[in-house]
Amino acid sequence: MVQPSLCFLGGLLGLLVMAPVLTASTPASLCTPLKTLNDSLSHRRRYMKHNFPINYSIRVYRQEIFKLSNISRMRLKVEGLDELVLQRLWFQVNQGVLKKIIRVLPERHPSRSYTAELERRFRDAEGVFVQAHPAEVFQQELPEKIQDVWDQLTEESDRVPESSWRLASPKSLVDSLRQTMFCLFRDCFTSEDTPQDRESK
Ligand SMILES: *[C@@H]1O[C@H](CO)[C@@H](O)[C@H](O)[C@H]1NC(C)=O
Ligand SMILES: *[C@@H]1O[C@H](CO)[C@@H](O)[C@H](O)[C@H]1NC(C)=O
Ligand SMILES: *[C@@H]1O[C@H](CO)[C@@H](O)[C@H](O)[C@H]1NC(C)=O
Repeated sequence: MVQPSLCFLGGLLGLLVMAPVLTASTPASLCTPLKTLNDSLSHRRRYMKHNFPINYSIRVYRQEIFKLSNISRMRLKVEGLDELVLQRLWFQVNQGVLKKIIRVLPERHPSRSYTAELERRFRDAEGVFVQAHPAEVFQQELPEKIQDVWDQLTEESDRVPESSWRLASPKSLVDSLRQTMFCLFRDCFTSEDTPQDRESK
């Protein structure tokens, strides 16, 4: 119940605080690959939870924990934050997340091909996202706070200090990917579709 409202709340508060431009809606061409991704995500409970030992978690960068609360906070703290910037960040974060999940899966693990497919579909969506916008958009300077996050996300893992790693379960990471997708690309997911994660835990 909370999730979409949390998603909108950030936007609304942002609107009140600084009356910014809430531009950059989602290009329609992106909806097909995102919906395909959403279809794959409906099997996440089995492949991201049941196939793993209880409480199994992987190490991710602190910035790879990217939830609705992060989005709300960023909208509040970064003046005039463009949706497109958050969308770019979503792709950047989750590319790393999916890579890290795949890395712990041996070739014949029962979740391996599922996760590889998820990543393929994710990359398809990213390809469409990049093509749907003029190249200059991706060269634009990012707001400083976002650039900081970006720099840390793209840091080599051996240069990331111990204190900047977090443990997270594959399922929780993929749940966040999905919830934030509904939030940031809400034009593709009408409100009847976005409701809640009935099968969250
Ligand atoms: C997303 O997937 C869920 C199944 O997990 C489905 O109920 C929902 O309709 C899908 N949404 C869209 C927009 O395809
Ligand atoms: C899993 O984590 C929960 C919550 O932290 C804990 O209560 C439970 O004992 C853990 N289970 C195992 C098998 O470690
Ligand atoms: C999201 O918030 C958590 C908790 O404050 C923080 O550790 C994490 O770095 C944030 N993620 C991003 C992408 O900023």
